[in-house]
Amino acid sequence: MKKVTIGLFGFGVVGEGIYQVLSEKQALNASIKKVVIKHPEKSRNAPAELFTTDADEVLHDDAIDLIVELIDDAEAAYTIVTNAMRNGKSVISANKKMIAEHHLELIQISRDHQVSFLYEAAVCGSVPIIRNLEEYFDNDLLISVEGIVNGSTNFILCKMLQEGEDYANALHHAQVSGFAESNPHLDVEGIDAAYKLSIIGLHAFGKQIDVGEILRKGITSLHPFDFQYAKEKDYVIKLIAKATVNEHGELDTLSVLPTFVSRSGIFGQTNNEYNGVVVGSVLADEQFFYGKGAGRFPTSSAVLSDISAYTYQYKYGYKKGLTPFRPNYDRTGRYYIACDKALAVDRALFDEIDEEFINHDRSYIIGKIRQKNLLLNGILNNPQISIISLN
Ligand code: HSE
Repeated sequence: MKKVTIGLFGFGVVGEGIYQVLSEKQALNASIKKVVIKHPEKSRNAPAELFTTDADEVLHDDAIDLIVELIDDAEAAYTIVTNAMRNGKSVISANKKMIAEHHLELIQISRDHQVSFLYEAAVCGSVPIIRNLEEYFDNDLLISVEGIVNGSTNFILCKMLQEGEDYANALHHAQVSGFAESNPHLDVEGIDAAYKLSIIGLHAFGKQIDVGEILRKGITSLHPFDFQYAKEKDYVIKLIAKATVNEHGELDTLSVLPTFVSRSGIFGQTNNEYNGVVVGSVLADEQFFYGKGAGRFPTSSAVLSDISAYTYQYKYGYKKGLTPFRPNYDRTGRYYIACDKALAVDRALFDEIDEEFINHDRSYIIGKIRQKNLLLNGILNNPQISIISLN
């Protein structure tokens, strides 16, 4: 097996995890030569001579053939990754923001320099969704990819709904467990999930998706009343990322939205930091991928798998194409919209109303809404309005 010499960027939750794994697992014939860090004053569980603050020392070291980029700062990551590939080094990255924002350009650079650019760890932690979309589903017609792709929000929602923790405590719990982003706003507002959905969209449907085109609402507007409603109906609330094609086989809808799902269904049973993704296809019907979506060792396992793939020069083929996604919000879906009684839900949003409720302090309407109406008046961004999909 090819001997791999790695330059590692970042020694956080995942960086340290991969260092530990590679120190113990000699089988892969891969070793870390240097780790580039930002704060040399921090004490770390590895020999001091392993660390440097000089990125160029690693990027220009001819003995290093693979860069593993596991830092937080997407802009710095972009500079590192592009320089590395231009210097002829292959790259493994877990930086979903950087990938989603520069996907086509990064692919082009990797092709121009004939290097591998792999990022299984950027999407759903340990769940091998990207390689499966690339390889296994390269010929079956895909019609949907849908799932829980953010471990932190899933963890928070479970703690709130099942264990009665309040939001602040549950978020803190997700942070100390190493699941949350260093800026947890990215998790709880559904932005991290949107980055992942964009990356999935390219591998599933060959479409380059601008994250701003995804209908998105996070979990911060959810109200205790919504959890109560869910309990009464035997639902749970999950943050679901969804990409579906229309009857013409075109991808037309992408969303990241809180969603009521049956408590006993597969998403309802996907709890804590677990992720679960259903791939819908013409021939296979539905397949479910399930596993830990965040955390040190689950994410390290995806990085490790990419290191192994690199040893046989694996590169994504992007066989479904690389064309821009054109959003179309014409589809109608069923949604629950709730807010303070004083604010009142706007009935004009709905094509059809199935259920309406008002009490002394809260009101909601459930009915059919054309997706473009969700873009009206900033309701997706209004923290006082709960929008929960029933699709
Ligand atoms: N913050 C991310 C999550 C980490 O909670 O899913 C894994 O991408």
